[in-house]
Amino acid sequence: MPLSCSNVSVAYGERKALNQFGLSLEQGEIRALIGPNGSGKSTALHALAGLIRPVEGRVLLGETPVATLSRRALAKKLAFLPQQPAAPDELTVAQLVRQGRYPHVGLFRSYDSTDEKAIDWALESTGLGGLADRSLNELSGGERQRAWISAALAQEAAILLLDEPTSFLDIGYQVEVLDLIHRLSREKGVTIVMAIHDINQAIAVSDRISLLEKGRLRFDGLPEDLAGSGLIQDIFRVRGRFVQVAADSPPHFDVELARWQRPMV
Ligand SMILES: Nc1ncnc2c1ncn2[C@@H]1O[C@H](COP(=O)(O)OP(=O)(O)OP(=O)(O)O)[C@@H](O)[C@H]1O
Ligand SMILES: [Mg+2]
Repeated sequence: MPLSCSNVSVAYGERKALNQFGLSLEQGEIRALIGPNGSGKSTALHALAGLIRPVEGRVLLGETPVATLSRRALAKKLAFLPQQPAAPDELTVAQLVRQGRYPHVGLFRSYDSTDEKAIDWALESTGLGGLADRSLNELSGGERQRAWISAALAQEAAILLLDEPTSFLDIGYQVEVLDLIHRLSREKGVTIVMAIHDINQAIAVSDRISLLEKGRLRFDGLPEDLAGSGLIQDIFRVRGRFVQVAADSPPHFDVELARWQRPMV
């Protein structure tokens, strides 16, 4: 069931954080949401997840406005991982991931083998099998982030909204999580929208890119077209150029750094 929104504006008090934002997703596509700090990526994800009521426009799941769906009904279809999720520190990894199953486990049903399988799969997919009984406050930042990704996976929703899912991960786990996202999309038809700061990773993994600046959509299209647009240099105020490392590799943004001098010794 495709997720879409049109003309969505969100305001915090008087200030508009998102202005006439629109997005139309194909089933199984990977969409990267990029843009400078404060440009509205998290706000857009909250609006898509039905967690903020827009001051104008609407978000549709198929034909149904998300605002009319109950939390549980929506959670069966859509999983959202916020940028800074919070849970009681003493919760264990396994308990957190079990909570991801809550939309599937009703008042009159306890966890069955399908739930246990989903939980084990979610833990293994993020390399957390060995840490299942650790409490969250005994984890490193990256391990905690993987635990949250795991909880979102256990939900087994057809749409995944991920707010900077790799921000705390070392380069090895960044690639692993991106690969997992790619497999979910290609093998299970999961639709993924992910806010991400790494432009090269966004270009490499996503089918389409949405670029926000000051709450407005500045680009919505194919990664290759973004590379040729000059928008990255303009919007992020950096010098750099796109290079093609090999014929079959994605365009790679090579940011120009100053040659900062070390003090003479
Ligand atoms: N709860 C809030 N109340 C008031 N203003 C907010 C709130 N959340 C975000 N904002 C403001 O809305 C704008 C968009 O914020 P948002 O968190 O969506 O940005 P972002 O693109 O996700 O940034 P980042 O890359 O830093 O995560 C910013 O100007 C921010 O200061
Ligand atoms: Mg954000």
